[in-house]
Amino acid sequence: MQVEAGEVMFEIFSQTDNKKFYASPNSTILEAITKANIDHIHVCGGNARCTTCRVYIMDGLINCLPRNEKEKQLAEKLGFPKDIRLSCQTKISGNITIRRPVVDELDIEIVLKQFGDAPGTKLGQEKDLAILFTDIENYTEFAEALPPYDVVHVLNRYYQTMNEIIVQHKGVISDVAGDGILALFGALEDSKNPVLGAINAVHAMNTSLTQFNGYLNRMYDRSFGIRAGINFGKVIVGNFDTGMMRKISAIGDAVNSASRIETANKDFGTKLLISQSAYEEVKGSVETKKMHRTTLKGKSGEYVLYEVEI
Ligand code: FES
Repeated sequence: MQVEAGEVMFEIFSQTDNKKFYASPNSTILEAITKANIDHIHVCGGNARCTTCRVYIMDGLINCLPRNEKEKQLAEKLGFPKDIRLSCQTKISGNITIRRPVVDELDIEIVLKQFGDAPGTKLGQEKDLAILFTDIENYTEFAEALPPYDVVHVLNRYYQTMNEIIVQHKGVISDVAGDGILALFGALEDSKNPVLGAINAVHAMNTSLTQFNGYLNRMYDRSFGIRAGINFGKVIVGNFDTGMMRKISAIGDAVNSASRIETANKDFGTKLLISQSAYEEVKGSVETKKMHRTTLKGKSGEYVLYEVEI
């Protein structure tokens, strides 16, 4: 804190600029930044509409006054963590350290695109999610036996069908690769029980295969089966934009484990396996068959998996 000509001033240290400057209790962080001759992006002119002026409060969050109504609305819409604040709306009552995450055109583009996201999307937050991996039984034989055009066409039909079901159960497809689908439950909106949502989605996906297989049989004399693995755990979820495609991704060990759990179906001849943590979320509401103790590829120690009938 500094006292300048009778006025109390609080210190702001910008790590991005390695610069120290001061804000009065009546000025916003944006006003203080601008006064310090730092070229801080604020596309909407400080009207709480664009969020490009956001700053990450690295230290001294307690010295930031609570969000005003305008900031609150935007923060809720975009699922901002507590320490991301709009500099154009935030005043301080003590010293803070900030980082400015939006520094160039590319950053502006990324930030503005976030307004197109589904409501409730949590950006860059750690969340407990149900992670579902599925793959198709008999896919390799199918892909080897048919011309590439037919394989792609059938897979597109499959993804289309499964996507609708996943969305109906409040999930979102995060990625597809070959015959594999990675879906997240609890990422887009808070569902009461994401694991239950994922299990119900697998049931519905399996049921829909009956109709799908009617088509496959008729057209190619083939049929598909589904295998799935579900894990529940903490992951970092966020929007990633590669320029050509945008997606909601989850990062964390729980995602890798979910993939291994799905693969374990091959060892046990099962269709749906869920982890211990997923089981804890649904015990009492979902009937499990056998319990399997196993190691998972790339993981140390022994894991307990529960078989669920589909
Ligand atoms: S400048 Fe647009 S929200 Fe702050």
